[in-house]
Amino acid sequence: MINDKKVLFSGMQATGNLTLGNYLGALKNWVALSDEYECFYCVVDEHSITVRQDPATLRRRARALLTLYIAAGLDPEKNCIYYQSHVSGHAELAWILNCFTYMGELNRMTQFKDKAAKHADNINAGLFTYPVLMAADILLYQADVVPVGIDQKQHLEITRDIAMRFNSLYGETFTIPEPYIGKAGAKIMSLQSPDKKMSKSDENPNASIYLMDDPDTILRKCKRAVTDSEGCICYRDEQPGVKNLLNIYSACTGKTPEEAVAEFSGKGYGELKMAVGEAVVSQLRPLQEEVARLEKDKAYIDRIIKDNAEKAAYYANKTLRKVQRKVGFPDRIR
Ligand code: TYM
Repeated sequence: MINDKKVLFSGMQATGNLTLGNYLGALKNWVALSDEYECFYCVVDEHSITVRQDPATLRRRARALLTLYIAAGLDPEKNCIYYQSHVSGHAELAWILNCFTYMGELNRMTQFKDKAAKHADNINAGLFTYPVLMAADILLYQADVVPVGIDQKQHLEITRDIAMRFNSLYGETFTIPEPYIGKAGAKIMSLQSPDKKMSKSDENPNASIYLMDDPDTILRKCKRAVTDSEGCICYRDEQPGVKNLLNIYSACTGKTPEEAVAEFSGKGYGELKMAVGEAVVSQLRPLQEEVARLEKDKAYIDRIIKDNAEKAAYYANKTLRKVQRKVGFPDRIR
């Protein structure tokens, strides 16, 4: 607890262009939960270098992502919005937790298997221990809740396992975090292959809606979305393309999938696609306008970066010192 509130932690990688999946699966829920919790929203730039990055691009994207958090409606005076690399406790705790995580556990991580297959020429140790750094992110702030999309669920489970293992060895040290997975946006699928998730790294630009896409591009991508030949707007697994469009529509409008199905009853796929496109455009327009406004205010963003890194480091160090003591590192001399 911080200031009598439960703690929320979440983060995103500053890699690639953010997609509608990132927004509906994570960022939108962050905003919805931000009043209820004491929140830490991190730009996880250290995770990003598990695959090769161009330094200037990474720096630019990290700043754009931090700005986007604020533009989405997270008040940086109330929520701690910061860069992972500015708080050394993340890497320090990750090292300790590495010594309490088994190779076998990490070997089971599906994201590692996917990424290793994709980057066969660079299967580095960081890619393998990626979930341990993620566990450190979360446990460092004693987070109660972690809002994420479904693809991160396995990483949350290993985080809980590591925390419980540590607690059983050394006594109560870490809060055991719960994932928070929203309903409609939990797994937004590719518009071109609705059997796989919408991803920043998809090579087909029509597969993903990017948060900074202009309205025409969004409408065009929705129009081209792959559906099926059933000709029925039903919410079922046998029609993954239509189901995904209904999920996007629900997540953008706040309606349930059942309400959406009723709304489109007797209508064709063309109308559905158009309505989805329009719902996405109205969802993203205010966000894009706010990004443009904030980007001009360099001094303001700089101050947020500095102040929040200090705030995050304060809480991170509290946990880190406790953990260091428990594992037997010598006390600091003051
Ligand atoms: P990342 O950067 O891949 O994704 C950020 C968030 O977006 C969600 N997401 C999706 N949700 C629904 N549909 C999709 N198609 C979709 N694609 C992505 C992800 O589930 C995530 O919530 N390892 C994390 C970042 C991280 C983190 C953490 C998250 C590092 N430390 C601590 C929470 C807590 C990642 O790579 O997310």
